[in-house]
Amino acid sequence: MITSFAAPHAKGKIAKDKIFGAAAAAKVDIAKYGKEVVVNGTQGCILDEEGKLVCLPTIEKEFRKLSMTDIISYAPIAGLPEYLDMVQTACFGVHRPQGYTAAIATTGGTGGIHHAIHNYTSVGDTVLTSEWYWAAYKNLCLDNNRTLDTYTMLNNQERFNIVALDKQVRSLLVRQDSVLIIINTPAHNPTGYSLSLQEMQDVVNVVAKCAKDTGKKVILFIDVAYLDYAGDRNEVRKVFTAFSNLPDGVLAIVEYSMSKSFTMYGQRVGAMIGISGNGEVITEFNNINTYTSRATWSNINRACMQLLVNVYSNPEILKKVEEERSFYYKMTKARADVFMKEAKECALEIIPYKAGFFISIPSKQPDAVCEELHIDHVFIVPLAAGIRVAVCAIPLNQMSGLAAKIKKALVSIEG
Ligand SMILES: Cc1ncc(COP(=O)(O)O)c(C=O)c1O
Repeated sequence: MITSFAAPHAKGKIAKDKIFGAAAAAKVDIAKYGKEVVVNGTQGCILDEEGKLVCLPTIEKEFRKLSMTDIISYAPIAGLPEYLDMVQTACFGVHRPQGYTAAIATTGGTGGIHHAIHNYTSVGDTVLTSEWYWAAYKNLCLDNNRTLDTYTMLNNQERFNIVALDKQVRSLLVRQDSVLIIINTPAHNPTGYSLSLQEMQDVVNVVAKCAKDTGKKVILFIDVAYLDYAGDRNEVRKVFTAFSNLPDGVLAIVEYSMSKSFTMYGQRVGAMIGISGNGEVITEFNNINTYTSRATWSNINRACMQLLVNVYSNPEILKKVEEERSFYYKMTKARADVFMKEAKECALEIIPYKAGFFISIPSKQPDAVCEELHIDHVFIVPLAAGIRVAVCAIPLNQMSGLAAKIKKALVSIEG
């Protein structure tokens, strides 16, 4: 009997998403014991102090003002022209890098990651990221018949490990013509780490040297999904100046997402922004990525592109949105502050957290530790290198005592 019709490359694919798995387990526990008892630190969305999903109020108001025509019409494949311009302002702010740039509308941040893997690596290539990474990166590589490899993110001074990156890039360039590096910063998922301007400059210098020494190419893909919840908006955006006047051999792509910035997770809107010192590279960026959009999803959600244009072309509305983002940044930070203070008190090791939705704890047996925490009605997410706590989703009054519970479970499982 025929039990599979999947083509050879598709055989055996099954999406086992640990985040959604942990969230489902938390839901069952909430139904049994009530939401006051259960700590649900699984989802990467902002929940308020009552546990309700947050939509920035001004964004909701502006979204509801959109006309039916804006909502239902097709958009150009590459994206609405005003959006493609305005999204660069939203992303770079006053720190737009010097060089040629172009944006392509993508289905959230995920869409741009897909396009970069699809168009800037070959079948069989290895893509590089840090050992703490968002699990979807691996799915995106495997589904495109590429693999994902990692370098150690931090050195023993708890700074970005430029030496490890250099070594891995060089070793990949021995067998590949180019290498795509994905770096999620600022407010990295899952650790909350942010590269400083100096660290980003070091990254650019090191990969430029790798490219020059080997005569090959490096594509630096900077995933900025958490850009608007990482601290002072101008300060945070200074890193983009590291992409000014990029040398031959290095292409930068910055991926912007409205999922978090506009709390529009399900609307699926983002943009990939190419930056190069060479205009021809950007013409090609436009052509090949528009082609892949046509061949993947055609055009994207027009309403949200219009929403971004409306917000960013009205200083008064933008000011309100920025104040609302700042409010939720501070709310998340207050929760993280409690966790970090208590982690220190109970000697729980955490990865240096600067900002963002998540804090990570190294663990050798993350699945078992997370399972053990269910006894205390704590639901957090096991990853390859440890455990992720979504501080964006846990109310402040549930943060007290959480670090100690995690420490207890870690000791119980790992000794
Ligand atoms: C690291 C990282 N990159 C990108 C994204 C973008 O996701 P989306 O496709 O929903 O915009 C997310 C969302 O969870 C993320 O955590």
